[in-house]
Amino acid sequence: MFKKDFPYFSNSDITYLDNGATTQKPKSVIDSQVDYYEKYCANTHRSNFGDANKATQKFENARKTVKEFINASKNEEIIFTKGVTESINFIATSFAKKFKTVIISSLEHHSNIVPWHMQGRSLGNGLEVVKCNDNLDFDMENFEELLKANPNSFVSVTHISNAFGKIHDITAITKLAHSYGAVVMVDGAQSLAHLKVDMQVMDCDFFAMSGHKTFAPTGVGAIYIKEKYLDEVEHYQTGGATIDQVDFNSSTLLPSPYKYEAGTQNIAGVIGFAEALNYISHVGYENIEVIENELYQYLDTELRKIDDIVFYNDIHDSVGSRSFNIKGISHDDIGILVDKMKIALRVGHHCAQPIMKQLGINGTIRVSLAFYNDLNDINMFIEALKRALKMLKD
Ligand code: ALA
Repeated sequence: MFKKDFPYFSNSDITYLDNGATTQKPKSVIDSQVDYYEKYCANTHRSNFGDANKATQKFENARKTVKEFINASKNEEIIFTKGVTESINFIATSFAKKFKTVIISSLEHHSNIVPWHMQGRSLGNGLEVVKCNDNLDFDMENFEELLKANPNSFVSVTHISNAFGKIHDITAITKLAHSYGAVVMVDGAQSLAHLKVDMQVMDCDFFAMSGHKTFAPTGVGAIYIKEKYLDEVEHYQTGGATIDQVDFNSSTLLPSPYKYEAGTQNIAGVIGFAEALNYISHVGYENIEVIENELYQYLDTELRKIDDIVFYNDIHDSVGSRSFNIKGISHDDIGILVDKMKIALRVGHHCAQPIMKQLGINGTIRVSLAFYNDLNDINMFIEALKRALKMLKD
């Protein structure tokens, strides 16, 4: 029903089921890019001629759009970045470094694991990992034990697992963490494409956002920093646009958000990010949730008819991605064969090697949905999977 809004689908005969990796872009987002480059391409926050003012205004309007979209309190709490990876690295370096302990979940992807290792942390040595049960549920009791043993720590957890679609109850996690003096960052890479997020309800202290996984261009994202931490978070990169006064002796920085946005930004990307959020508002999360729920349940029902299928979680408290294996069959072989049948999905470790190792597997076959997918996409995939399995078994 919504595919008509996405030019990719009229130009391609691919069944696209790799939305966890990146999403397709609606025409309004693509048009916003062309519009900027063709009609008012100029730098922001510097020159004062007409197009420069227009670009600055569009850029700052985009900040307001993101702020309103996630129900942050102030525009200053929204800092544009290259994406979730940069957002997490920024906060890890400019704020979380000073914490004795960082607590993450078992379902993190590498972007929320490797930056902590690069600080010299390892398991039991400045890094703790909350256990999950056999259904990949976040273990609240274990979390509380870790918080008790490590009060005032930094908690950094994903909202939705990219590999398994599991949703963490961020409101409950934040409430518990705060009661032990911890500060909470949420990796929202997979969130905005599927669920309404509200900073006042979730009450997390940092929330990392991805543009390209949210129907916006690649190379853009943002980090929400709760107002009370804006003075404590140190600069990340500095240079043009971050400064108030500079002489050869010293420099003074502007307040947030400018002190965190060094150099010329991804202006078109930021404008496109806001356009993508406007598009989501136009579709409505109520509709997205109904459509995705139906697709997700249908996918699960059809997959359960396949012999020897292995799941790692049920579909409760999950959204978007469904991961599985077929006993005795390599996920890579399935990936190669279904690609030949024009099905786009991801097989492998999904940038989440630790949880794969914990499960004793090298990877999975992952189908990840967006609201523009339809039942026919799932039928095409199931048909291709059956054909691939027949080829591999015969
Ligand atoms: N994190 C992205 C994925 O899940 C790249 O595929």
